Amino acid sequence: MFSQETFPSHILYGTDYNPEQWPVSLWAEDMRLMKLAHINIVSINIFSWATLEPRQGEYYFETLDRIMNMLTEHGIAADLATATASPPTWMSRLYPSMLPITCDSHRLTHGSRQQYCPNSADYRREAVALVRQLAERYRVHPALSMWHVNNEYGCHVAQCFCDRCSFLFREWLQARYHSLEALNEAWSTDFWSQHYGEWEDILPPRSTPTFKNPSQVVDYHRFMSDSLFQCYLNEARILREVTPTIPITTNFMVAFKPVDYFAWAPALDIVSIDLYPPHTAQAWETALTHDLMRSLKGGRPYLMMEQTPSQVNWMAQNPQKRPANSRLQNLQALAHGADGAMYFQWRQSQGGVEKFHSAIVSHEGSEHNRIFQQAAQIGAELEKLSPSVVGSRVQAQVALIMDWQNWWAVENLPSPSDRLRYWELIGSWYRALHRLNVAIDVVSPAASLSEYRLLIAPLLYMLRPGTAQNLEQFVAQGGTLLTTFFSGIVDEHDRVVLGGYPAELRKLLGIHVEEFDPWTPDMTNEVLVEEGPLQGRYPCSLWGEVVHLEGAQTRGLFARDYYAQGPAITVHQFGAGQAWYIATQGNDDLLNKLAGLLCREAAVSPIMEVPEGIEVTCRVQAYEHSVYFLLNHTGRAGQVRLPTGKFTSLLTDEEVEGVVEIAAQDVVVLLRHSSSS
Ligand code: GLA
Ligand code: ZN
Repeated sequence: MFSQETFPSHILYGTDYNPEQWPVSLWAEDMRLMKLAHINIVSINIFSWATLEPRQGEYYFETLDRIMNMLTEHGIAADLATATASPPTWMSRLYPSMLPITCDSHRLTHGSRQQYCPNSADYRREAVALVRQLAERYRVHPALSMWHVNNEYGCHVAQCFCDRCSFLFREWLQARYHSLEALNEAWSTDFWSQHYGEWEDILPPRSTPTFKNPSQVVDYHRFMSDSLFQCYLNEARILREVTPTIPITTNFMVAFKPVDYFAWAPALDIVSIDLYPPHTAQAWETALTHDLMRSLKGGRPYLMMEQTPSQVNWMAQNPQKRPANSRLQNLQALAHGADGAMYFQWRQSQGGVEKFHSAIVSHEGSEHNRIFQQAAQIGAELEKLSPSVVGSRVQAQVALIMDWQNWWAVENLPSPSDRLRYWELIGSWYRALHRLNVAIDVVSPAASLSEYRLLIAPLLYMLRPGTAQNLEQFVAQGGTLLTTFFSGIVDEHDRVVLGGYPAELRKLLGIHVEEFDPWTPDMTNEVLVEEGPLQGRYPCSLWGEVVHLEGAQTRGLFARDYYAQGPAITVHQFGAGQAWYIATQGNDDLLNKLAGLLCREAAVSPIMEVPEGIEVTCRVQAYEHSVYFLLNHTGRAGQVRLPTGKFTSLLTDEEVEGVVEIAAQDVVVLLRHSSSS
């Protein structure tokens, strides 16, 4: 139905659909209801392995054939899953060593889902056999639109510690270090008598009497992320061979710590994300997630593969999603560059763990309820937006740097502070930038940075080879960079770079950090700015440092303690640009003001001036037109003064100019033709 280049050709609206869990007599009703809800794609077959292959090598495809044919008849596309996420019970009987082992040496078993070791040769062989059957059978089926490989890799079993994993970990280490000497050096094994004389003595970081070797822990993160990736690649290889034009995805989970999505993304045709924000989530938190997902493939449209229609089943208490949030969350996905929004799931389960997870069709079963009606209304709106929005891109001049490997290292304990939360600190800067109504990418430290004007790289503790040079080049060519406390500390092996912090960043930042001072929750300080745009006193938390200037200028001082009057904020002219440093975690007020100042210094202007609580984004269609999304996340109406020119309100078909009013929790989508700019 689609090809990779033009995919998707319209906004996708869909849901996980599990008809094999229901009597066939209900299927016609499903089709009628899907049409009412404007569903144009369904993810099928995700948990069907046991139905497809009830006994090893005995395949049964009749049910799936009927489902695929039914979808074709009704013009609904299939996001066909490879069904490998939950192995059938015969697998654990025939191949018990396929079951994963926890770091405490417990073997997990079936009765839930995802009970496989990603390195199990038996699991991989059986998975690949099934995938080949599926690929060959549905190769030219008109419903086949996209492949959905496995499901949420690593969600429940992110790491396995079995003997096979040990064996393969050693092979992985041999490929990385070539010699035991190099490994001993990289892992600092002279410490605590950990020296390895034989490769076979090396283990995964299983339970130990006290803290584990940190370099080993970081390498195990890398190895397990790679192992899961190999599972993906094994399936994708067959799909590419048999169906070279069908796009392939696997569903990611927000910023999921165990899996380095930057490493995976090039091997996906389209990124997709499962998004389940808690009901307390702020608009900027979901915006951050979307921006990361969009950035994984350099700004190409992505899909929101799963969201819940209302309540979930897996929290301690599961409130209904507030009605207005559902529409806002769907349109926010589009606003940030998604070309599709889908749900888990279509029909609410009668039994099993997820029987109280909401679905578009509830236990009651009809279209006459709030959740269904709302899903149908959203579907109609996305259909309306589709021609103007699909394929358009968000263009950002600001980027946040994020690095999974740094995340693994900086949060590994013991550390100078167990209060460092990498994703939260990224979030604190994202929040400050987001309220300035600028578009933001979230990129890896190895990304090409030349398109950006402002970069913020919080807590860049681990600098892998090339990162410092990439940042230097960015600033030298006129970019504005800010990095924070506890950056430039270790190399890729989690070994301190000697000679003074922040080591490789010292020249760029023009500072030397003599000491860092992690605070307990009751310790605070203040940042004092005596003049200029940041003038004021700002409470700060988490961390302080003794900073010396080596070419940089001070923009803020610590107010108290033994480093009172010492630099807390510095800026260094480097080439044509500026490198800023902040040696503590400022309060929101300071971060807001700094973000504003940095945007001004970097000549980054807002997409549009909007009142607080209204989010604005812009998607640009090459040379044709721009679509502005104005999302009012507040409980009161707001007014936005539009730039000069004429706009079409795409949801209401009205022509608008001047001031537009946006009702509480409402969304306005405006098309601006290039002729009016
Ligand atoms: C995940 C899974 C789905 C389902 C939902 C429930 O996202 O991919 O199969 O279990 O959670 O929220
Ligand atoms: Zn294992």
